[in-house]
Amino acid sequence: MTETWLVEPSGPLRGDITVRGSKNAVTKHMVAAMLGDGPSVIRNAPDVGDVEITKAMLESVGFGVTRDDDELTIEPGAEVRPKVPEAFTGLNRIPILMLGPLLHLAGEAFVPLVGGDPIGRRPVDFHVDALQAMGAEITYGPAGLTAKASKLHGARVTLPYPSVGATETVLLSAVLAEGTTVLRNAATEPEVVELALFLQRMGAHIELSPDRRMVIEGVPSLKAASTRLAGDRLEAFSYLVAGLITGGEVRVHGCPQDRLVTAITTLARMGARFDITDEWITASAPDGLKPAAVHTDTHPGFMTDWQQPLMVLFTQADGMSVLHETVFENRLVYVPALQKMGCEIEVFKNCLGGPACRFHDGNSGHSAVIRGGSKLHGAEVTLPDVRAGFSAVLAAAVADRPSTLHGVHHIERGYHRPFEQFASLGLHLQRA
Ligand code: UD1
Repeated sequence: MTETWLVEPSGPLRGDITVRGSKNAVTKHMVAAMLGDGPSVIRNAPDVGDVEITKAMLESVGFGVTRDDDELTIEPGAEVRPKVPEAFTGLNRIPILMLGPLLHLAGEAFVPLVGGDPIGRRPVDFHVDALQAMGAEITYGPAGLTAKASKLHGARVTLPYPSVGATETVLLSAVLAEGTTVLRNAATEPEVVELALFLQRMGAHIELSPDRRMVIEGVPSLKAASTRLAGDRLEAFSYLVAGLITGGEVRVHGCPQDRLVTAITTLARMGARFDITDEWITASAPDGLKPAAVHTDTHPGFMTDWQQPLMVLFTQADGMSVLHETVFENRLVYVPALQKMGCEIEVFKNCLGGPACRFHDGNSGHSAVIRGGSKLHGAEVTLPDVRAGFSAVLAAAVADRPSTLHGVHHIERGYHRPFEQFASLGLHLQRA
């Protein structure tokens, strides 16, 4: 499954990119659709590996999933088989989100241990604690989690940290639970709100209150619904950076401005010039880029998934920049691959640039100082995860000679047809 690209530096990247619905929303909508009483339709779905994996998981537990270009239809089957096969171990984070829906549909469930990118420990304790508070009996086994609940009930749940996934688990479980669930310290990422809106369309009673509070009143049943996903803010940011780093200009269509507000301000502070319309956003930096100090945060802060492209952009800014990762303790694991390509990045265990975070007394390198103006070298590197992969392509695009990038399938797990998108911007690349 490992795939390799040969990437040649090709000068300024220019052109138009249309982003589809986000990877982080589409799979959760697919799980939500399990709860409807008929076929639900998700439009503007991206063509990413995670959709295929989730489709296969849903099919394995008895749902019909069909795809017609950007439209997914999820249909309940005759019988739910509440055991997600162990073959799905470690492929993505979706099985844990299926636990609540499977409990509603079958009263019992097994899900294999979750995977996703190798960033930090990625525990599931918040999910498990919330489901237990709602009445599920959960046991950890060597291969995964087994759960039982004749009927989930509403509960008061306070997340220790506003986790996206755990908020989604509570939403997907509380909508059909008996009684009211009050969730405090909920994540408010746009993809989470989008899921809540889809569930509301299916008939769920969800109140989004100030101060990260959600109140969910369980209803007896949900109907099927259809929706069109909003554009992916990770992809939009990544391609805007692809234009900036190569001295070009990429016009990104399909991602609402409000999803990018902090990203736009950060890049503008570095000297990028923006043109923004209702249809598209474009960025250029004719006078070069200034360094910056950025810390990642929950929404509406600077998203952790934006930090990898930003890191490479920092290597081309005019001075020293600082990046402080505060959401995942181990999200700088890709730095060695970039160092191999000449990026001058030093990683620190301390909290640099911004307030101290949860990881201040830990042992993980989660801050970085990046020297701008580095000459990047073409190299042979292996990509450890999806967004690191995109960053390595950016580095290769401004390097002094061609690069060989192994593990490109990671990019394809999360980005919609990246090979074709990069090629359309003028990057010379071939599959090896
Ligand atoms: C999702 C996104 C990911 C994004 C992240 C933060 C998907 C498929 N992935 O990941 O791209 O970077 O949100 O916006 O949507 N935590 C625990 N225990 C738990 C759950 C989480 O300690 O049970 C911790 C994590 O280790 C991390 C923090 O909470 O430090 C945030 O994680 P979370 O928001 O849950 O990320 P994901 O939902 O996995």
